[in-house]
Amino acid sequence: METIDESNENSWSSKLGFILAATGTAVGLGNIWRLPYLVNQYGGGTFLFFYLLFSFTIGLSVLLAEFTIGRYVGNPFLFNVKNKIKNSFIVSKLLYIYPLALLFLLSFYIVVSGWTLFYFIKSLIGSISYISQNPTYYESIFSEELLGNPIILILFTVLFTLLTAFIVYKGLKGIERVNFIMLPAIFILLGIIIIRVLSLEGSMEGIAYIFSFNTKDITVNAIIAALGQAFFALSLGSGAMIIFGSYSKRSYDIKSSAIQTTNLAVGVGIFASLLIIPAAFAFNVNVSSGPGLTFVTLPTIFSALPLGYIIAPLFFLVMVMAALTSTISILEVCAVFLAHSIKVSKNISILILVIFFLIVGILQALSFGPLSFISIFGKNTFDFAEMMVNFMLIGGGVLSCIIVGWLISKNDIINEVNNNGLLRFRSIKLWINSIKYIIPIVVLLFIFMFI
Ligand code: PHE
Repeated sequence: METIDESNENSWSSKLGFILAATGTAVGLGNIWRLPYLVNQYGGGTFLFFYLLFSFTIGLSVLLAEFTIGRYVGNPFLFNVKNKIKNSFIVSKLLYIYPLALLFLLSFYIVVSGWTLFYFIKSLIGSISYISQNPTYYESIFSEELLGNPIILILFTVLFTLLTAFIVYKGLKGIERVNFIMLPAIFILLGIIIIRVLSLEGSMEGIAYIFSFNTKDITVNAIIAALGQAFFALSLGSGAMIIFGSYSKRSYDIKSSAIQTTNLAVGVGIFASLLIIPAAFAFNVNVSSGPGLTFVTLPTIFSALPLGYIIAPLFFLVMVMAALTSTISILEVCAVFLAHSIKVSKNISILILVIFFLIVGILQALSFGPLSFISIFGKNTFDFAEMMVNFMLIGGGVLSCIIVGWLISKNDIINEVNNNGLLRFRSIKLWINSIKYIIPIVVLLFIFMFI
């Protein structure tokens, strides 16, 4: 079995590469697609406030904890840990929550990723018009041409799965390169388009909505959703960041990498919300349109832009790449895990997972059409998987806190974060206490309130 350390090819070739990879994993549909529609669904600014609060407190702390576990242990599932972790046998069994969360996550993520590919190709070949159209036109593309067409849904889910598998099979170098172009491109494109959107009549109403704070919107459901979204958007509780930590060199400053990753990931989410919600208000897009919000609003914005037909394919390409860098690491984590658990090579485990994801992805895709009658606890399978992911990522994140706070010696943790005294981290005690007591207690409290 391969062990992951700095001497082998899995180590990032540069510090920038490490941050880019971690950010690439974090920045994805969670920030561009999921955050804006959750903000809408849960009442605007209040939800955004809790999302930001959780991201920069709990999220950032857990991210650093996961980088630390990864680099200290060398792998996300505590293989060959020897004496590094107390009760490592029991913990390594509990860690099954990571790949399990990812199975639920990828089941719908791959479908939405397929949507981005659909819009990219359609925009590229010009089979979607971006010249003075209204939201109704784009609503019908989304609900009739996409969701209403099982063949298209399946085709794009399959294509996306195969694309992901191909890149994972090819190794890590490709991921770095994709992120190198994608991350600046996301910011530049979002920035340019925001300026245009904010000059639209009616968009200020959307801005007011994003920054409104209303105590009546503070519900347990909203709080759990905001917490889940903070974990989702930073890829926490899934083993992904632990894997990336394990690929990082001993000399890197994982604390500042965690801060940069959080800033960038949250930044993209804020940019996307600033774009989509005001535009939805300005164009009168049905703001309760849930998962379709981004896919109806964006094309409407493009049709109001000069050269919209050029910006549209570019933007959807960026979305495809953002989704891809996330699906890649999801498959990567699952493959490392499976390869070790059933003692097969990584390539065989990729193959097994691809078959599995194809089946699950297709079933999920069809939940919008022929299989929409299937419901679990009153939810369709898509919404059910999303709910499961929220809880499992939160649970996985708490487990990471427990590992760092309780099962690894405090000195080892301090040395790992401080690079054996070479770096200074002034609030290290506060961080350790948060990981050890505050975060697990706060999170459990929210979950009890929910139940
Ligand atoms: N953070 C990714 C996003 O926002 C999703 C993700 C979660 C990726 C967990 C990997 C692991 O889209």
